[in-house]
Amino acid sequence: MPRPKVYSTHPLFDTARKILDANCDVQYWVDAERPAREEVFRQVKDREGVICLLTEKINEELLRTAPKLRIVANVAVGFDNIDVEACTKRGVIATNTPGVLDETTADFAWTLLLAVARRLNEGEALARSGTWRGWNLDQLCGADVWGKTLGIVGFGRIGRAVARRASGFQMKVIYTDAVRAPEDAEKSVNAEFRDMNSLLSDSDFISLHVPLLPDTRGLFDAPKFYRMKPTAFLINTSRGPVVDEAALVAALENKKIAGAALDVYENEPFIHPGLKRPNVVLAPHLASASLETRTKMAVMAAENVIALFKGQRPPNMLNPDIFKKR
Ligand code: DGY
Repeated sequence: MPRPKVYSTHPLFDTARKILDANCDVQYWVDAERPAREEVFRQVKDREGVICLLTEKINEELLRTAPKLRIVANVAVGFDNIDVEACTKRGVIATNTPGVLDETTADFAWTLLLAVARRLNEGEALARSGTWRGWNLDQLCGADVWGKTLGIVGFGRIGRAVARRASGFQMKVIYTDAVRAPEDAEKSVNAEFRDMNSLLSDSDFISLHVPLLPDTRGLFDAPKFYRMKPTAFLINTSRGPVVDEAALVAALENKKIAGAALDVYENEPFIHPGLKRPNVVLAPHLASASLETRTKMAVMAAENVIALFKGQRPPNMLNPDIFKKR
């Protein structure tokens, strides 16, 4: 029997490659740069499977050029790069990689939170500059983290993992979400439900953990920043467009908030020049980037593809209704 033809927009990691190569004929994109859109279009034409990163837009236009396509496996938990509805209409299964990156992403949200509160980027720049004159009492004094109030926006797996880490810092944890979590979930991380306005006015640190949806696009806009404490910090490891970047820059310029630490941006890889200021810590979308976790994500995507070609249900389907239609 001919082996299924798959295109991967990344070379992935050995463990994932072994799984795929044992079962399919895979063409890997191996250049360090991301493939151009035309290249992806060219490659998907006669493929039955595609493994892609969040940098590839999988929409109707692309699906139209890939009539044999049966599965699109995203190597990411967020899937705003995929038009799932268009996939469903065309009978293409879409999958993502939930769960494996929660703790690693939560670690990184804390990395950013601590860095911006304690002015690590400024301290590091000074230490490397050759101009440090030695210890001084008022040098680069930041804000305490311990004992403060952490506001979590989006109390899913990652939001809860971030909340769980707060107990070591003796912090009060409050959260908001479209739906209140069950009592045991709140109790397990000692978190208190609040409406958005109360979270905005009471938090010293606000960490965002919502998916990018029509409802969450631009969720953090000027009125939200104006409700925050002038001493508060915003941390974003979710998706860039959840924050209105121009409004954030204005809030920073007008000292409506104390600072921000960002891993994601509205138009990646472009970073708004107004964000390049000392009280903003900037990272290039790294929150899940530990070798262990990124390998698990690639393996998960490979397993989703293999499951389908073995006649099974891919474990992480975004459009399970496809099977009802068949
Ligand atoms: C995701 O998985 O959605 C992240 O943004 C990359 O890990």
